[in-house]
Amino acid sequence: MSRTVYVNGAYVPEEEATVSVFDRGFLFADGVYEVTSVLDGKLIAFDGHADRLARSLSELDMDAPVTKEELLEIHRELVKRNDLVEGMIYLQVTRGAADRDFAYPTDATPTLVLFTQSKGLVDNPLADVGMKIISIEDQRWVRRDIKTVQLLYPSMGKMMAKAAGAHDAWMVEDGFVTEGTSNNAYIVTKSGTIVTRQLSHEILHGITRAAVLKMAAEAQMTIEERPFTIEEAQNAAEAFVTSASTFVMPVVEIDGEDIGTGKVGPIASRLREIYLDESRKEAI
Ligand code: PDD
Repeated sequence: MSRTVYVNGAYVPEEEATVSVFDRGFLFADGVYEVTSVLDGKLIAFDGHADRLARSLSELDMDAPVTKEELLEIHRELVKRNDLVEGMIYLQVTRGAADRDFAYPTDATPTLVLFTQSKGLVDNPLADVGMKIISIEDQRWVRRDIKTVQLLYPSMGKMMAKAAGAHDAWMVEDGFVTEGTSNNAYIVTKSGTIVTRQLSHEILHGITRAAVLKMAAEAQMTIEERPFTIEEAQNAAEAFVTSASTFVMPVVEIDGEDIGTGKVGPIASRLREIYLDESRKEAI
């Protein structure tokens, strides 16, 4: 069935949705994006995603094409027009179309595209068995806090994981895990402390990460924000990842080594439950 997508102010059938071949998103990956999940037809953590989008745009001296209120309206209209009950809304802003030049154009109008993806997110069978992870070198650029559409290396990482019979890859820089190809990475030590890398330019400031850490603290769990190694992860009691599309997803194996019992751990399960409960309550 054809979706209705949003392109620069218009709601159109996906077959008719187009952007210019001169668009800088296409030519230079000069664009930023957000992925917001939808549960029961409602948006999860919309505010966080809209605020991070504003920050990404500002870091790249790019104009916001619409206000936050208009953005909310577009998200809701797409949910309605596509009868979206569960899935994601993908949003992309680029600097717009201009004759090819490395220097930013002064007069381009930003391109704004949004589309829906219908997908069962809560009943993900991986949540019961956990993910297998491989480690790879982090070869991305160094401003990973800006959510740009330059996703070629994460795509390559995902393919390396697939080729190795795993679900995903954690990237390692100077001996320490930065994050997953499209998620933030965590371990739980044998004494029950949740460890995840601190915020910096080296990782994306996950909206799910912020929510999960807040909920973990409220549930009296201990949290340490610091880098960890693959070896420490392999010797941990549990591991998991977070993202808008996977929520809290347990990890049971890294580079062929079982983590803890090799089964989904109690802290990851509990956090997934809490996150889903709370997010549903706060969904708009
Ligand atoms: N990815 N780190 C990276 C590199 C990511 O690409 C993502 C999200 C995250 C988690 O951020 P959040 O909790 O705000 O989703 C961390 C999205 C889901 C994607 O590219 O599809």
